[in-house]
Amino acid sequence: MGMLIKSRDWIDARFPLTKMWEEHLSKYYAPKNFNFWYFFGSLALLVLVLQIVTGIFLTMNYKPDATLAFGSVEYIMRDVEWGWLIRYMHSTGASAFFIVVYLHMFRALLYGSYKGPRELLWIFGMMIYLALMAEAFFGYLLPWGQMSYWGAQVIISLFGAIPVIGDDLSLWIRGDFVISDVTLNRFFALHVIAVPFVLAILVVVHILALHEVGSNNPDGIEIKKNKDENGIPKDGIPFHPYYSVKDIVGVVVFLMFFSFVMFFVPEGGGYFLEAPNFEPANPLKTPEHIAPVWYFTPYYAMLRAVTIDIGPLSAKFLGVIVMGAAVVILFFLPWLDRSPVKSIRYRGPLCKIMLALFVVSFFVLGWLGTQAPTDVKTMMAQVGTIVYFAFFLLMPIYTKIDSTKPVPDRITG
Ligand code: HEM
Repeated sequence: MGMLIKSRDWIDARFPLTKMWEEHLSKYYAPKNFNFWYFFGSLALLVLVLQIVTGIFLTMNYKPDATLAFGSVEYIMRDVEWGWLIRYMHSTGASAFFIVVYLHMFRALLYGSYKGPRELLWIFGMMIYLALMAEAFFGYLLPWGQMSYWGAQVIISLFGAIPVIGDDLSLWIRGDFVISDVTLNRFFALHVIAVPFVLAILVVVHILALHEVGSNNPDGIEIKKNKDENGIPKDGIPFHPYYSVKDIVGVVVFLMFFSFVMFFVPEGGGYFLEAPNFEPANPLKTPEHIAPVWYFTPYYAMLRAVTIDIGPLSAKFLGVIVMGAAVVILFFLPWLDRSPVKSIRYRGPLCKIMLALFVVSFFVLGWLGTQAPTDVKTMMAQVGTIVYFAFFLLMPIYTKIDSTKPVPDRITG
């Protein structure tokens, strides 16, 4: 034991080990009332690690070459020892990542976690979300299946809809006149090193920002406003051991769900791995129905909801603008929300109704994005898009005029 303490002191004299441990774990005071919704940050961290580790092993057998890529994935699935498991962990992991992150973001909407003083924490979160979408998009081309190829074709062609620079821009992204081996190579580089690197840095910055301001909680009360004589928040408990242990429970439950999907429904009914992707990419054969993976479908539905040209601007270009705006508008949430209270618990009916409508619109749009468009479905997507944007654009009004309940100054339990 003496040896251990001596080693620790030796390190502490040269590196802030104990200092960091205390600052971020044993003396980081978190609100004592975290609930279900607070599991998803640590779960996102877990899935990130899982993706990186399984990704490293996939890379050992994957070949980023248009003539070999599809076959190398088949080889991983059939011949590499435990390759099928690594591959399913990674492909199911991508969907799990978005499920966890969407729930994590929804928690912020429930409890007003994006509001001051957590604006920057929210912005870092949004940057993570953007990076995650880029990561998923680049990764999806790598197996070089039909949906990889044609999905990328659809998305890159969206850049082509931008007036004046569109054609040059999509040429620059592809690195070729069509999606080719060149495109595959650069997507591989971006997916395997560039974006994960950015993601990792963003996650560190996200957590540093969190620890600077402290966690919000289901009551939306700032625990730092009520400290005892030692300067410790009265409603706070040390992250370690209380929440480190609690988070492990979350991890175990998550792994149960994750294992179930991985072992019994790894394709997620065609939602996690789409059927056309079991066929090698064929530039001469467009699949009957091209749809992105489920986590992009709400935005895809909004893209397709725009059906009219306005002057020189094509419907496609306007759809791209709407789709981009649907993501970008989330960055502005801290300034759109003018409610004097944070948590939904103390908000009035207007905020609750709007949040409920928003969630419904997101699910309906998500479903519509998986479907081939019909007149009725396009109209539904248009209504969904309007509801989606109304949630944000009317927010300064309804959060201001909505009634509120009195917020206690101590956590209620
Ligand atoms: C790789 C992805 C992410 C990781 C690893 C991550 C990690 C974490 C962790 C560990 C926490 C503290 C525990 C918790 O509150 O659940 C947290 C809090 C938070 N995260 Fe994330 N996060 C990620 C993505 C995002 C995204 C995409 C957003 C929003 C766009 C976001 C917004 C927030 C907010 C607002 C908080 C504070 C919540 C509160 O205190 O009520 N995060 N994050």
